[in-house]
Amino acid sequence: MTRISRRRALALGGAGVAATIAGAAGWVATDGPITPVGDRVQGGSPDEELARPAELVGRDGRLDVELVAAAGVRIAGRDTRALGFNGSSPGPTLRVRPGDELAVRMTNHLDQPTNLHTHGLRVSPQGDGDNAFVRIEPGASFDYRYRVPPDHPPGTQWYHPHHHRTVADQLFGGLAGALLVDGGPALPVADDRVLLVTDITLEPDGSVAAVGPMDRMRGREGDLVLVNGQHRPVVPATSGEAQRWRIVNACTSRVLALRLEGHTLAQIAQDGTFLPGPVAEGRAVLAPGNRIDVVVSPVVAGRFALILDPFDRGNAMMGGTRSGGPITLATLVVDGQAAPAPALPVTLPAESAVAPATARRSTTFRMGMGGPMMGGGQAVMTIDGRPFDPDRDDQIVAAGTVEEWTVLNSGPLAHPFHLHVWPFTVVAASDGRPTAGVPQDVVLVPAGGWVKVRIAFTTHTGRSVYHCHILDHEDAGMMATVVVR
Ligand code: C2O
Ligand code: CU
Ligand code: CU
Repeated sequence: MTRISRRRALALGGAGVAATIAGAAGWVATDGPITPVGDRVQGGSPDEELARPAELVGRDGRLDVELVAAAGVRIAGRDTRALGFNGSSPGPTLRVRPGDELAVRMTNHLDQPTNLHTHGLRVSPQGDGDNAFVRIEPGASFDYRYRVPPDHPPGTQWYHPHHHRTVADQLFGGLAGALLVDGGPALPVADDRVLLVTDITLEPDGSVAAVGPMDRMRGREGDLVLVNGQHRPVVPATSGEAQRWRIVNACTSRVLALRLEGHTLAQIAQDGTFLPGPVAEGRAVLAPGNRIDVVVSPVVAGRFALILDPFDRGNAMMGGTRSGGPITLATLVVDGQAAPAPALPVTLPAESAVAPATARRSTTFRMGMGGPMMGGGQAVMTIDGRPFDPDRDDQIVAAGTVEEWTVLNSGPLAHPFHLHVWPFTVVAASDGRPTAGVPQDVVLVPAGGWVKVRIAFTTHTGRSVYHCHILDHEDAGMMATVVVR
């Protein structure tokens, strides 16, 4: 099945190769070779090696960086008006250690307000910490200081803007980067790579395509799916040598259902924290915001596609939200004589399970239409019947308690539930899917269903937010505040 772009034409190549044309004269995302149509198709050069984003590494207990958000980056091998940090999308990979102080001067060279969120970092949400209520005006800067606790788990986190009403456009535009907390066991891997996945739709002139109300209601999905800003790059490997891949779903709304031809993925971590031991997966599903760390162990030479399968997020009032596919995201190219895979450790330093809850509450995500359906009606996205108000305290939690939350979804689309600062353990879900058993920070709440999570509000006090990580929904109001005191 190939999705036919809503605004666009379908071009059919030979032998089952179908292409979705982005724009009357635009960019193409294909499942076969990149095929020029006239002179208007540019998807980057095939077989370009997967880039390594620049790394900024902490030293002597601190990392001081400046991140400048601005338009004008190379995407899929072409100069565009897409957005980046310090001139690139993704931005630099920030690497710190538990106990470090991370100081970020965030400078806004965009034409709208922004701010910065360290997704997954368990740091204070107050003041100059991971404060979702900061507003950085165009031309201005803000100095963040994140104090990473000494007992912070090592793992894969990420950063992106979080200014309410501009988050989706800015993430879709390309503003995201990886944030790694170093440490953890030595793994028998020859390489360690970030695979930060984004999607975007670009106009022929290199500007980011505008998004209409229906796409905002469904949650936009871009025509191009990129890894580290590249279209279908190649990951070189040697048989017998394993690689750690830190996969980040930085797409605005797209759920990634991933598989690697000829391989199982040995998952070792979820949302920046280790599993109790490696878990072999044929297919891994990442909601927007989720991360997984996997070990890929090629044993024979060959080319193996990393494939995105279609995933059905449910039906909006009009049209579906079934993303197209299968789509080739990248290709693992293995060289060398057949060789056995190195053995992985049987146990990993997972965190212990959260203590039983002493309090319970529930919260409901709901979407509806606020106006005449066909007359430019606006989607109304609420939590517990109310759109986001930064000045209202929605959930007040006693510091030090463990709570069980039931997150309900009354609507026809799945919503990824995300809570800042305080990770949660999934206890059960209405669709009966297996749970990770370790803390995580985004979980997909099925359409018309629920998820029960256990949250330890034991680390930090302060005021923060939880929201739908379909960032179009968050911008439309599906966010609420939580105060821990
Ligand atoms: Cu990744 Cu509140 O976000
Ligand atoms: Cu977050
Ligand atoms: Cu949502």
